[in-house]
Amino acid sequence: MKGIILAGGAGTRLHPATRVINKQLLPVYDKPMIYYVLSTLMLGGIREVLIITSPEARPLYEELLGDGAWLGMRLEYATQAKPNGVPEALIIGREFLDGGPCAFILGDNIFVGHMLGEMLESVRQRDDGATIFVCRVSDPERYGVVDLDADGNVVGVVEKPSAPPSNWAITGLYILDSKGSDIAQGLTPSARGELEMVDVIGDYMERGALSVEKLGRGYAWLDSGTHESLLDAAQYIATIEQRQGLKIACLEEIALRKGFIDLPAFKALAENYPASSYGLYLRTLLEEGYLDV
Ligand code: G1P
Repeated sequence: MKGIILAGGAGTRLHPATRVINKQLLPVYDKPMIYYVLSTLMLGGIREVLIITSPEARPLYEELLGDGAWLGMRLEYATQAKPNGVPEALIIGREFLDGGPCAFILGDNIFVGHMLGEMLESVRQRDDGATIFVCRVSDPERYGVVDLDADGNVVGVVEKPSAPPSNWAITGLYILDSKGSDIAQGLTPSARGELEMVDVIGDYMERGALSVEKLGRGYAWLDSGTHESLLDAAQYIATIEQRQGLKIACLEEIALRKGFIDLPAFKALAENYPASSYGLYLRTLLEEGYLDV
């Protein structure tokens, strides 16, 4: 399965912090936001990823992540000229997907949780339909929200409702079969002038082809939509990393643990890394015991 990351947007809600830099390049504690997003796909075993961003930001992503070979991955880039809505990424990515299914993730969605990769690996074995991941939040009006019946089936999806039907927000991670691009192509813009992901999800729901995974209390879905939530996310990452002495979303480590690169390749990356805390961490991993955790 291939992956698509949408890291576009004007980021106006975070101006001036994002006036000249794409939001998904901002640091969340010790690494760029895109690292967390890419790490989620990598943990799910996805090695071919299309990163869609603005024309201005594209060269920065290319410089940061390159062709992905250093991680044993294949990364491609494309641009979204204007923020016309999330599903447009599925239209832009049509050729890249080449008729196949995809894991689609929004570039500002950070997931941390035990067995996240294993869960994604198992969900993506489903051949048909779509899977969405929902998470309980205290402020559902800021998100897409599901309406669930007594058996936990999704009976409705609504974008940023003023009267939310539940506290279950739709996270920005979607596993879609090959129909995703066609559905996106057939959408018309919503009242706010954008193509809406809830309309793609609604299409799957109406055909009885939607699965929903609840991310329970063992998962953190961190938000980066406001200055406060961005700071909270950074503090959450810092707290866990400092307590455990293990990093979240260290791409080189994940590539090694998933078998995308071998130990000599990892050693070369670690040994050549500058002496930042990230670089020191890579070298620490080479010490006995660390890679057994
Ligand atoms: C988008 C989706 C929304 C989803 C959210 C998750 O909203 O439209 O359904 O809940 O991402 O991050 P946006 O961030 O574009 O407002």
